[in-house]
Amino acid sequence: MSNIDALKQEIVETVQAANNIKSLEDIKTQALGKKGKVTSMMKMLGSMSPEERKEMGKALNILKNEIAKEIDIKAKELKEKEINKRLEEEKIDVTLSVRPEEKGYIHPISQTIEEMIDIFAEMGFTVAEGPEIEDDFHNFTALNFPPEHPARQMHDTFYLPPDPNKQGSDASLLLRTHTSTTQIHVMQNTKPPIRIIVPGRTFRSDYDMTHTPMFHQLEGLVIDKTSHMGHLKHCLIDFCKNFFGVEDLPVRFRPSYFPFTEPSAEMDIGCSHRDGKLTIGAGDGWMEILGCGMVHPNVLKNCGIDPDEYQGFAFGMGIERAAMLKYAIPDLRTFFETDIRWLRHYGFGPVEQPNNAFRS
Ligand code: DAH
Repeated sequence: MSNIDALKQEIVETVQAANNIKSLEDIKTQALGKKGKVTSMMKMLGSMSPEERKEMGKALNILKNEIAKEIDIKAKELKEKEINKRLEEEKIDVTLSVRPEEKGYIHPISQTIEEMIDIFAEMGFTVAEGPEIEDDFHNFTALNFPPEHPARQMHDTFYLPPDPNKQGSDASLLLRTHTSTTQIHVMQNTKPPIRIIVPGRTFRSDYDMTHTPMFHQLEGLVIDKTSHMGHLKHCLIDFCKNFFGVEDLPVRFRPSYFPFTEPSAEMDIGCSHRDGKLTIGAGDGWMEILGCGMVHPNVLKNCGIDPDEYQGFAFGMGIERAAMLKYAIPDLRTFFETDIRWLRHYGFGPVEQPNNAFRS
């Protein structure tokens, strides 16, 4: 092995053995510094013959570059190690230990609305919304409530103070007593076919075990040229089976009266009461669940839709009532008492999915 190769091997070995930047710098000085080993070999070039000098000079330059490169590589490696070590040593945990805070829950009303939307969306319904403050026309007149008709009184309406600048029925705004008002807005503004559901808040001046002044309804409306009572029945039976998760749920339709539908019906679902517990499904009892019917021709006319060309059905149900039956919640008033213990018991986790079954 030539002197140069031996020197290279010796220096490279010490470079690789260096374990900190300081000793690497010393090695560099010893090799390439003014009095370093490579430098002193360079100094010997002067005493050589021109031939030898040329050859040796070239070899020493290559050596110098190779050593410098080795030192650079090692320096990078050592610097990285030192930084990582410092990061490790200087780490500060800035997090505070977590206080036990109350968890949030989805209110059963929100959950029930999601579940209802989920089922009707799969049948092709879209969700519509309407105002909670209404005029007499949308809440009553357009829905075929004759003036002075007792059904108007049955709604226990909250009226807003009359506007002195307006005349007649325009002067008195009210809080909508049902979500049927949105049927009117949608029919006034949409060319059929229409297939909507309207979940939303409604208001009536009433308060006891089964009534609160604010409650929720879900309205449904289908308008096209061919929908009939058979479609209405299939749609609502399918909804109830899925919503309550009972595939062989008994149902019955009883004749009823609503000014905005003709014929009108109320739908009951089968249930049983045993040991003070209500169970939905085949049994010896019936529970009313919703009102429905074929949209009255006058309502279509009031919205500018020709009843000789179009027809359809509508339905409306109380969301609290449906939630109480599905989730065995005994007292309506507790829904709105904002009691965290109640919500912890009856509420739902934020990522829980709508809880329906028996899609057909
Ligand atoms: N609006 C009715 C109520 O509040 C519920 C209802 C019944 C809505 C029959 C409908 C329907 O669309 O067809 O009592």
